[in-house]
Order: sequence, then C-alpha cells, then structure tokens
Amino acid sequence: MIRIAIDGPGGAGKSSVAKAVAKRLEIIYVDTGALYRTIGLYMLNNGISPSDSEKVVPALSDFKLELTFIDGKQVILLDGIDVGDSIRTPEVSMAASAVSAIKEVRDFLLNTQRSIAQRHSVIMDGRDIGTVILPQAEIKIFLTASSEARAKRRYEELISKGHTVTYEQVYCEMVERDKNDSTRDIAPCKPADDAIMLDNSDMTAEQTVDAVISIVNNYKKKHKKNGYMRAHSVLAGFIRFLYGVKRHGLENIPKEGGYIICSNHIAVRDVLLIAASCPRQIRFIAKKELFSIPFLRRIISWLGAIKLDRSGNDLSAIKKSIEMINLGELVAIFPQGHRYPGVNPAETPRKNGAGLISYRAGCDVIPVCIKVRKNKYSIFRKVHVIFGRPIDNKALNYKNGGNEEYKNATDVIFNEIISLYNAGDTRLK
Ligand code: DC
Repeated sequence: MIRIAIDGPGGAGKSSVAKAVAKRLEIIYVDTGALYRTIGLYMLNNGISPSDSEKVVPALSDFKLELTFIDGKQVILLDGIDVGDSIRTPEVSMAASAVSAIKEVRDFLLNTQRSIAQRHSVIMDGRDIGTVILPQAEIKIFLTASSEARAKRRYEELISKGHTVTYEQVYCEMVERDKNDSTRDIAPCKPADDAIMLDNSDMTAEQTVDAVISIVNNYKKKHKKNGYMRAHSVLAGFIRFLYGVKRHGLENIPKEGGYIICSNHIAVRDVLLIAASCPRQIRFIAKKELFSIPFLRRIISWLGAIKLDRSGNDLSAIKKSIEMINLGELVAIFPQGHRYPGVNPAETPRKNGAGLISYRAGCDVIPVCIKVRKNKYSIFRKVHVIFGRPIDNKALNYKNGGNEEYKNATDVIFNEIISLYNAGDTRLK
C-alpha cells in the first residue's frame, strides 16, 4: 500500500502529473481540488457568496456530494449529477479558493478524502494532503514552479478549452489565489516538514512524471518486504501443514487497505494460525500480561502486536489500532475477549472493542471463523480458518457512537462469525 501526497500551488501541473503517475503505478488518482470546486460551483449556482461563511456553512447540508471512480477515473456527483468540466472555469476557481478557507468546509470534506486512502493506494493532489489529510503518507511531494510558468500553463490550458481570457488576467488571478491559499489560517498551502520539494519551472510534464516515479522507486527500494513478510513466506506454509489448517475465503481479504479482523477465540494458537493463513501482515491486539513473558514478549513484539491493558479503558491501544488501520494495515481483535476452548462461540459473551474501533476508524470488518471439531485443538483434527466477506462499516449502523452502538455493532460482527461457523460448508470436512 502506498499513499502519495502531491501538494503545491495552482498551475504547477499537480493534476496532470498525478494522473500520469497513477496510470503508471496502477493506483487511484484523487483530485481533491475538484471537491472544493464543486462546493464553490454549488454556492455560485445558488446565489451564495463563496466567502460568506454564514451562508456557506448552513448550505452544506442542502446538497449531496459523492466522489466515485468509474473505470479508475474520478467522477463527482452533485445531487446525483456529474459536475464534469463545469467546475473548471476561472469563476469556479476563485469560488473554490474562497470556500476552501472556511473551516467547516474543510471538515466537511475531510472524511471523504481520508476514507479513500484507507482502502486503496492513492496519489492525491491538493494543498494540505501531506500536512492535514494524510500526514502519514509514505511519499509527500511539494510541486511548485514560478508564478510566470504556472500562469502560462494555466492560460494555455484555458485557451485550448475555448475560454476567452488574457494572460494578464490569468496571472493576476493566480497570484491572488496563491495568496488566499497560502495565507489562510486553516490548512494553508505549505510543504509538510518531510515533503520533497520539486520545482518544475524548467521541466516538461514528462520530466516531472519521471521525477516523481523515480522518487517512488527510491522509496520502494528502501522499503522492501519487511521482516514479518519475509518470515511469513518461509514459515506460513509449514505452520499450516503442521497444524492441519485448511483455508477458506482468501478472496475476501482485500489486497490492501485498513480493516479490522475479528475472529472467535479457542486458544493462543489462533494467533499463529490466522497469521499463517492470511497473505497479509496482521497486527493482533494482545493483553499486556503476554508482554511480561520474556520469550513471548520478543515474538509478539516482532509480530507488531498492539499492547492492551484490560484493567480499564485502554485508550492508547485503541488509538494505536486506529492509527494502524489508517495506515492501511489489518488489526485483529478477538471480540470474545477470552479463549473459549470446547464452547460453541454462539454461547459465549463478547466485549465491545471491535465496535468502538471500527466506529472511530470508520473501517470495514473482516469476520474470521476458526472451526475445529468440538472447538478444541487436537493433533489429528483439521482446523478450518474461514475468512468471511468484509462487513461494510455502514452495516454497523453507527450514528453518534456510544456503548449501546458499539455493543450492537459487535453483535452484528459476531453474528457473521457464527454464520460462518454454522454455514455447513461442504468443504469443511
Ligand atoms: O487544485 P485546484 O486548483 O483544483 O484547487 C481549487 C481550490 O481548492 C484551490 O484554490 C485551493 C482549494 N484546495 C484546498 O484548499 N485544499 C486542497 N486539498 C485542494 C484544493
């Protein structure tokens, strides 16, 4: 999973570069400016001054904005209608700049932008992607060019699309918009501390794309398979063979993106068997007591386990889990909270942690069922590890959060695990 943030002022060529890079890397391109433009367009169409926050903010609940991808191409629907090129006029550019300085507008668009990057590798362009939207992006680039070079490009682009503008007009608007975007109080356009600066005043579009691709290749070279996955490729098959594991539903595990994995719990061995069955790295939430056993501590730390203190509400474990999910990782939790060997999972109690985390992270949940005869491991018993289809976060019916909602959501998740258990799948012989 890779997230590339490209920030910088208008006219630096962010969108054409990002589009080309997305194509070469076969990842999704998200043009966040288009979201602000759509809100600007709505305000103009409805006679609302885009800089009048008192009118803009209440109007945010009057329309439906959807960001979708058709054949990998971003499409924005405003009240169900594709906005297309109507957001690309100079008037809408100015309106977008004005609405983007309003905090409530930025908050309104935050989750739309983040949730895409939680599920997919993306290249996202904007002004605050590296600083606010995806501060954990693997690669952050600040793409810029001189005002003259940028104005010239924008001018040529507008002329080629049939707009009647003069170079001076475009230049002045660009300077004004730069000033608005970089001096506003919230999320001003500025490079993240760890961003790579790329000035393309004297570069062609192709050279800029090549420069970005070589930054990505350098990153990939430095971050080859980690120790976990290297060990996984050597050991997982052996572990599955040793314990007689049969895997089901591997197609239900998305290739990338942050999810919670929830499984029933029979014995400590579950951790090993699920890890050996899943083709991606999983971080397990493990009770803190396990970290005080010297040898085990080493193994579970190496596995990247998240330490949980069960004596109270352990906020740090919850925060860490959400952080990992937002980074596109799989975090596993056993909703039963304890091991229940020999007991049918339908007859055991559950805790609410999975509900709480999926609410806070806004992520989907992959149910997993470990099915073994009599719910007890034994040398000669085959173990089935069944991955169910991800449960959409929307199906967990969250409104404002709270224990009641977490409990209901955990029940929905656990009922999925039980239906995998009861499926009577003919493969489970
Ligand atoms: O990249 P663009 O020209 O399409 O952006 C239009 C306006 O939206 C721009 O003036 C600033 C604003 N914007 C923003 O504030 N934050 C973003 N992430 C993207 C755009």
